[in-house]
Amino acid sequence: MYKITINGNKTLTGEIKISGSKNSAVALIPAAVLCDEEVTIANVPNISDIDALDDILNFLGAKVYRNEDIIKIDSKNITNRKIPKEIATKLRASYYFMGAMLSKFKRVEIYFPGGCSIGARPINLHLKGFEAMGAKVEENNNLFTITADELKGAKINLEFASVGATLNLMLAAVKAKGTTIISNAAKEPHIVNVATFLNNMGAKITGAGTSEIKIEGVDYLHSCFHEVVPDYIETGTYMILASIIGDKLKISNIIPDHVESLISKLEDVGAIMEIGVDFITISRPKKLKATNIKTQVYPGFPTDLQQPMATLLTQANGKSIINETIWENRFLNLKELNKMGATTDLLTNQKAVIIGPTKLTGKRIKATDLRGAASLLIAGLIASGTTVIENADYILRGYEDIVYKLTNVGADIKLEKEG
Ligand code: EPZ
Repeated sequence: MYKITINGNKTLTGEIKISGSKNSAVALIPAAVLCDEEVTIANVPNISDIDALDDILNFLGAKVYRNEDIIKIDSKNITNRKIPKEIATKLRASYYFMGAMLSKFKRVEIYFPGGCSIGARPINLHLKGFEAMGAKVEENNNLFTITADELKGAKINLEFASVGATLNLMLAAVKAKGTTIISNAAKEPHIVNVATFLNNMGAKITGAGTSEIKIEGVDYLHSCFHEVVPDYIETGTYMILASIIGDKLKISNIIPDHVESLISKLEDVGAIMEIGVDFITISRPKKLKATNIKTQVYPGFPTDLQQPMATLLTQANGKSIINETIWENRFLNLKELNKMGATTDLLTNQKAVIIGPTKLTGKRIKATDLRGAASLLIAGLIASGTTVIENADYILRGYEDIVYKLTNVGADIKLEKEG
């Protein structure tokens, strides 16, 4: 396990360059197994979730070459083996091998995925979609065996605009016979990024980024080069941090449109922002104002920025309410923030109140999930004194070079192995 130690309360200035999107890259890599030739993906973040996917590719016998942000994957000769529990449960995104392997081999055996404990996280919508395409799903002690004599295009209406189900069904449909239509599809930027990747290989997907995606099955997918889209959650995390302790902190290599809902909230709290074509420069205001947050599917306020935003709201004047509508258990960070001096309370499991501003003081605290860890990291950076974050491994799952990036703009932060 790792711990992060921060000597806080330092103004941050300079530039932070944003990496490729975790949630896009973790779908692009399983998608690569669909290709009948070698693919090259650039701007891949160097984070532990990618290492875990690399383990699965190696286990299946793919040829993988990684150098800095480039990954080349040749899945021509992969074998369809049961993906064991130890590697399937390392992360959530292992479930994208369901759609990809089913599409490629008409059979997949894989354990229920892992990932942060932020709610029940069922995969019923994925499975229902596979069944609509003619697959048979069997489950035995969390081992899923999904088979099909033939995968056929189908009309699938998602009960909820699930990111995972939209991507998994898109992967399954790419080589299915006929046309699949996914309605009430998720619209997140990574849906578009993955569809573009598949289209670059010769897939026929239209409508990605809208609520209706149409996929015409093809037989062969060829080699291509593709780039991971900038990570809008990493972008947003640093934007929130800059709004509390930034002095002209420039966040670059971004797509500002992807963080529109956050920009609007940061305007409400009073952050001073200059928005460029591919950057945002942010300075803290004299006084932050309270605001209310309701998480929603894209383009609404992202659940993945709710926890970092909670830390900002501990510094805002007045009462803020957060309504988390996507996950049932995404407030574990609040208890740790309270240890540091914050005043937060749960109104229900999915609704919290934060009263600010409160002075935060460095403490030994524990991360319980990725974005909760980001929330605590921001707290440590703004607190007076020394903060030690235990279980810092969570943060390494999603933020590339975080210690380097923050040190570069003036933070006093270090990452060490513990235990
Ligand atoms: C993706 O999770 C992300 N993970 C999450 O990011 C993110 O919070 C989430 O999308 C929402 O944006 C990855 O991309 C690997 P969903 P996913 O399916 O796909 C319910 C992070 O911190 N649902 O959109 O698992 C579900 O319970 C992580 O980077 C079903 O009921 O999310 C939830 O309430 C955490 N049945 C809602 O839908 C299903 O079959 C949204 O889930 C699928 C989902």
